[in-house]
Amino acid sequence: MKLLPYLPKVYMSYVEQHPEVLQSQDQPTQFVEPTAPSPVFDNLFDRTPRGLDIDEINEIIDAYAEGIRRVQEAGFDGVQLHAAHGYLLSSFISPHTNKRDDQYGGSTENRTRIIAEIYERARKKVGENFPVIIKFNTMDLLPDGIEIVEATKVGKNLSKIGFDAIETSGGMWEAVTQGQEQMGWTPVIIPESRTEIRSKDQEAYFLPGAKALKDEIKTPIILVGGLKSFDKIEEILESGNADFISLSRPLIRQPDLPNLWLSDSGKNTAECISCNACLPIGAEATRCRAKKE
Ligand SMILES: Cc1cc2nc3c(=O)[nH]c(=O)nc-3n(C[C@H](O)[C@H](O)[C@H](O)COP(=O)(O)O)c2cc1C
Ligand code: SF4
Repeated sequence: MKLLPYLPKVYMSYVEQHPEVLQSQDQPTQFVEPTAPSPVFDNLFDRTPRGLDIDEINEIIDAYAEGIRRVQEAGFDGVQLHAAHGYLLSSFISPHTNKRDDQYGGSTENRTRIIAEIYERARKKVGENFPVIIKFNTMDLLPDGIEIVEATKVGKNLSKIGFDAIETSGGMWEAVTQGQEQMGWTPVIIPESRTEIRSKDQEAYFLPGAKALKDEIKTPIILVGGLKSFDKIEEILESGNADFISLSRPLIRQPDLPNLWLSDSGKNTAECISCNACLPIGAEATRCRAKKE
């Protein structure tokens, strides 16, 4: 990544211009009013957000497009639009959280319209050769939420919009408020990071969504979720059910894992035990808390 050598410089220059960011850390956090596509009660945060009006949606589209342009200007090789896990763009995609009856709600096309408009405005700014990819939920794990059939329609739309690759994830944060029976697996704080992955069969828990999409579109698919064994990954890639894989927790525990797998020293299963003890606690940095130092 060509930007990394000068990231500290970017941060220092920001701090020089805005010294208040350093002073503000001891001050109470300012909460903004939560907003969403529709005022649907959120069981996790125990509150109902305010529904956005059209002018606000337009401002948000501009802000995303400008954000993507800044990522390019900062020197990154590409950008991923986050439309998964319950964040704003996924709450537009999901029929569970999007009850709008205007051009941003209803049909699959309408629920992905905000994303299409962000893409179009961003593309004009960054040109044709800057990779813009997207991550979305192939299953929300919530009643009336996205499941494989609807996810396939959404994915086809994302491909039509023009994204350079699509990462298939899943789980809205609110899903943790349900029981195991409704969820289909043990509810955890971030349902995209499933725990209790003890065998190869339990790895690749978002594979069904990736597979369904691979049958329908040509856009490269990136699979994430519980991948730990080299041979399982090889099997998935060779079968053509995904084009790339994505790793999170295994790299928190073993940042050099890909190099290890590339070397002759072995193709051992990642050491990560999928316990989620690495989730940030307060201001403490993310780290593997299961590993004995
Ligand atoms: C500590 C931690 C932080 C995470 N932060 C993010 C995040 O900021 N954005 C995101 O899309 N996913 C985030 N995730 C989810 C991972 O990107 C990934 O989708 C999930 O953990 C499943 O992949 P894995 O089994 O390889 O960890 C986070 C996961 C962990 C454990
Ligand atoms: S704490 Fe360590 S072992 Fe547990 S999930 Fe995180 S990286 Fe893996």
